[in-house]
Amino acid sequence: MLVIGGSASGMLSKSLAGTLGCKIAGAEIKRFPDRECYVKIKDNLKGEDVVVVQTSYPDECLVEMLLIQDAVSRTGPASLTAVVPYMGYARQDKMFTEGEAVSARAVAKHIGSGADRVLTVDIHNVSVMDAFGKRAENVTAMREIGRFLQAEGADAILSPDKGSVDRARIAAETAGCRWDFLEKRRIDGQTVEMKPKSLDADGKVVAIVDDIIATGGTIIKAAEQLKAQGAKKIIAACTHGLYTGGAVTKLQGACDLLVSTDTLESPTSKISAAMALSEALGRGG
Ligand code: R5P
Repeated sequence: MLVIGGSASGMLSKSLAGTLGCKIAGAEIKRFPDRECYVKIKDNLKGEDVVVVQTSYPDECLVEMLLIQDAVSRTGPASLTAVVPYMGYARQDKMFTEGEAVSARAVAKHIGSGADRVLTVDIHNVSVMDAFGKRAENVTAMREIGRFLQAEGADAILSPDKGSVDRARIAAETAGCRWDFLEKRRIDGQTVEMKPKSLDADGKVVAIVDDIIATGGTIIKAAEQLKAQGAKKIIAACTHGLYTGGAVTKLQGACDLLVSTDTLESPTSKISAAMALSEALGRGG
């Protein structure tokens, strides 16, 4: 097996190759002055099982992924697995109003057409997995997040809402602590209270886990309320640290610690999704 990492996923592809105990194949990936992408595979991949790792966000990284897949497929590999650690456009997973593109399915269709198998990590909605049109599996990084939170002494792991409590449960089962979800209750026209459904946050190290942190609004509101309820320390942890509009500064103001995985590389990427991906690759699909 050989791994090729695109420019958005250098960190994760190295960790994944290390975990799998395989080599990173040589590839030249560069941009022309007009920002168009150039890809050339430098190793002989004939008959190899090739794993291409590239987050498809922002748009130019999606194009890079498609070009790497094309270049790899022309070398005659035995198989090509496309690992899309963070799939851009995954949140537009249906037609919310008539006439819209279903972006998640459109992107999935194109990536899937150039691969034998696709792996994603904590994709926003698993219902789009069939749009890859190939063997496709979504893995979770919540166990890796749970291990990190255990080392940070988390007493409880919370999800921002009931619908995503499974993520908190998986992380907490790994960390060996309790889990819960934040319940919203409208107090008056201006105030919405967010409280753990059953746990008392007072005096506890509390972690809030989410798949994506974008503006940070969801986590910041939760952190402020948990602090007011007496939480000793608030840790915000997510798989995909998208961080739009100065979110990191705002989140670091509201939380004691902010961490994410390496599906989107940033200074908060202290956790690797490599183990979860390596286990899935080992299962062979
Ligand atoms: C929502 O469905 C997602 O799971 C996240 O909770 C959401 O994307 C977070 O967005 P923001 O950081 O902008 O509150």
